[in-house]
Amino acid sequence: MFLIAYGLALSFFLCIIECRDANLVLVENPREALCLDGSPPGYYIRKGFGSGVNKWILHLQGGGWCYDKDDCLKWSKTDLGSSKNWPQKAPYTYLNSGLLSYLKTKNPDFYEWNVVHVQYCDGASYSGYVESPVQVSGTSIYFRGIKILEAIIQSLKDGGMNSAEEVILTGCSAGGLAAFLHADRVKSLLPRSVKYRVLPDAGYFIDAPNVDGDMHIRSVYTNLFNMQNCSGGVDQDCIAAYSGSNDAWKCFMAQYTYPYISSPTFTLHSLTDTWQLENIVELDCLPPSCTATQMKEFYKFTKEFKVAAAPVISSSTNGAFLNSCLKHCQSMSSYGWNGRLVKGQTAAATFSNWYFKKEGLKNVVDCPYPCNKSC
Ligand SMILES: *[C@@H]1O[C@H](CO)[C@@H](O)[C@H](O)[C@H]1NC(C)=O
Repeated sequence: MFLIAYGLALSFFLCIIECRDANLVLVENPREALCLDGSPPGYYIRKGFGSGVNKWILHLQGGGWCYDKDDCLKWSKTDLGSSKNWPQKAPYTYLNSGLLSYLKTKNPDFYEWNVVHVQYCDGASYSGYVESPVQVSGTSIYFRGIKILEAIIQSLKDGGMNSAEEVILTGCSAGGLAAFLHADRVKSLLPRSVKYRVLPDAGYFIDAPNVDGDMHIRSVYTNLFNMQNCSGGVDQDCIAAYSGSNDAWKCFMAQYTYPYISSPTFTLHSLTDTWQLENIVELDCLPPSCTATQMKEFYKFTKEFKVAAAPVISSSTNGAFLNSCLKHCQSMSSYGWNGRLVKGQTAAATFSNWYFKKEGLKNVVDCPYPCNKSC
């Protein structure tokens, strides 16, 4: 009796570990869709179950950008530029928390869904397309992000997503930006009847000055946009709006592309995003370790963020959860998704209200830092 119970418990335990594994799928016939080093792109997939078999969460992995050709050559030798060393099963931390968890307790609305962790390996938020291989110090590298995204959607459709009823496109950081940039393109690749929603997390990188007053992040994105030839890869309504100007690079930034996105979008972001404070403002501290002068820069940024995010905040149809916590990416952590509160409500609950058209708040903006005690 004891042994049987033990056996059952053991197999149940193993099933929790085994049955919910996410396995690597590499794109079989990639043609032009290549990682920086020329290897095939791919994704991890954990199959849906119960009522989730025809429902899909597509998470676009982030991880920054490669900023010039030498940097991209370096990237091509890492997991963010090559599929050569990707493990067969997804690392545990990829798909087991927050919105991506398969546990009802952690993720009550979406735990049964198919979850896809799209592997980032192009260095430009899945947006570039340079036809010929690019020579760097005698090595060929490839700028093919948009082809990667399209090939992965095709591979998923071949693997069952063609009968999808609901699809959520999400991603964090450079992947959150990608969710904005490719919101409408991904929709256009899915069956028309799909209920489709976009949930970018920490992808609203704003066009703000650094502490010296330089608009330096703008030149970073302009260079990247031009180097990887992203004009055909980003939102085409945005590109059309900026055609004839020298400002097409703006379509690589969420605040400029957001007004052209027609897919329903829920923006999850911190008003005090740590990556942006460090890399856009170039602030050398985070509170509480800042001087009074540095705190002025900190508050200046949070104001600029709200101005840049005005179209998100004022939208009557799109949702948002904008908190004043010192964070970057929150949907893939249990506490980020289901713990921190704005107006007494979690990100999960706010998204759920919006997604399922329930009663209750769907677009919430926090009080100013450091008011939020749930961070
Ligand atoms: C740049 O992108 C456009 C649109 O996708 C494409 O037609 C063109 O061939 C690309 N240029 C190069 C140099 O690959």
